[in-house]
Amino acid sequence: MNDQAPRKRPAKPYRRPKKDPVRMLAFEALRAVDERDAYANLVLPPLLRKAREKEGFEARDAALATELVYGTLRRQGTYDAIIASCVDRPLREVDPPVLDVLSLGAHQLLGTRIPSHAAVSASVELARVVLGDGRAKFVNAVLRKIAAHDLDGWLERVAPPYEDDPEAHLAVVHSHPRWIVSALWDALGGGRAGIEDLLEADNERPEVTLVARPGRSTPEELLAAVGEDSGLPGRWSPYAVRLAEGGEPGALDAVREGRAGVQDEGSQLVALALAGVPLDGPDERWLDGCAGPGGKAALLGALAAQRGAALLASEKQPHRARLVERALAGNPGPYQVIAADGTRPPWREGAFDRVLVDVPCTGLGALRRRPEARWRRRPEDVPGFAPLQRDLLREALRAVRVGGVVGYATCSPHPAETKAVVDDVLKREGVSAEWIDARPYMQGVPVLGDGPDVQLWPHLHGTDAMYLALLRRTA
Ligand SMILES: C[S@@+](CC[C@H](N)C(=O)[O-])C[C@H]1O[C@@H](n2cnc3c(N)ncnc32)[C@H](O)[C@@H]1O
Repeated sequence: MNDQAPRKRPAKPYRRPKKDPVRMLAFEALRAVDERDAYANLVLPPLLRKAREKEGFEARDAALATELVYGTLRRQGTYDAIIASCVDRPLREVDPPVLDVLSLGAHQLLGTRIPSHAAVSASVELARVVLGDGRAKFVNAVLRKIAAHDLDGWLERVAPPYEDDPEAHLAVVHSHPRWIVSALWDALGGGRAGIEDLLEADNERPEVTLVARPGRSTPEELLAAVGEDSGLPGRWSPYAVRLAEGGEPGALDAVREGRAGVQDEGSQLVALALAGVPLDGPDERWLDGCAGPGGKAALLGALAAQRGAALLASEKQPHRARLVERALAGNPGPYQVIAADGTRPPWREGAFDRVLVDVPCTGLGALRRRPEARWRRRPEDVPGFAPLQRDLLREALRAVRVGGVVGYATCSPHPAETKAVVDDVLKREGVSAEWIDARPYMQGVPVLGDGPDVQLWPHLHGTDAMYLALLRRTA
């Protein structure tokens, strides 16, 4: 018998975890989004700036950190389903910081080309720094399970079969809340292929598009400034230039001087369509009734200037009205910016020839721009906007003279925020107006629907899902 105590294995010498500034930054951004309801597109730039100054971040570090944050947030629904099948308790019982490290790891494993061993070890090192050694072991165990399959393999395992429940299947595979899948599918119509293309388009990073404000700059000037390899003419708007990935709009003189700006082509089309409708009688006074932060107002201001018309840009929030001031600075024609509530407007009835109301909405048409937005929105938000949308449209119709035109725009394709609002106002609010077929004012743009209103789509037009109804006041 051996009465000696068993020999202990020599303890491994303690090794400090390695700090990886890119993953640390991505984790910090995810925590801010999670904990403080911050917006990723607002949180990230200052973190990246600090990292450039203090950590010597290079462009490729910034690109990786951005991809990790945006990709993780966009694919959160898919990753949650996968992580849930790898842990032995409901996800809501997993500490949020642990879940953020797991999601970041899942994205590296399933959504990037980072090799599996590097994705796991980088995530475990991150966990050791931000969660401690004990929880890092849990992270290691879960990520090793996740690494056992690729994304397709996991989707086969965790997504309900399409045949059993199409919306639940699409929600997991394309990482959208189920109610949004359902709402977008209702709005889009059609079969499986279209909705799948749309949901996937929401998961892609949108191109950066510039607008050369007419009379102030030209697409040729912008293309020459960015260089042949870094820019393309727009698809639909004659004023648009599309930047190649990594293009920096802020580096261009025309953008710095306000002669050009960053603007989705869908927004350009909305302003151009409103400006394109022929009017009988004067065409001198234009109103943008929901102008902040000023993208459409700046384009309308430039178009108005070319015709000798004046623009009033009105915005309820004073701080956003200041952004409109900035967007319109240097406009070659007359304009004024005011902070006013468009539902109780200070202007007199019939004061304008053209009016745009680009109303506050759920933003379901711009999900690709705000990676966390789909998880924050609730179904009850949709009806919540309707009274304000109706009031703003009613007042816009009152603001325009008889024979003048109103553009009602949203960056949501949800029928309750689009057609239903217009129908309601025309039926109930006692202002006489008729629909104008908007399609001829978006010439060359295909698949605009049956009219008279138009709905743009990310997967069909490469734009945000902007909606536009054009109405002419009749009495
Ligand atoms: C969709 S955004 C407009 C975007 C803008 N047209 C652009 O292209 O930059 C809607 C704007 O309406 C403003 N808003 C909300 N309620 C309003 C009200 N009662 N009167 C006027 N503006 C309002 C919001 O503050 C927000 O800036």
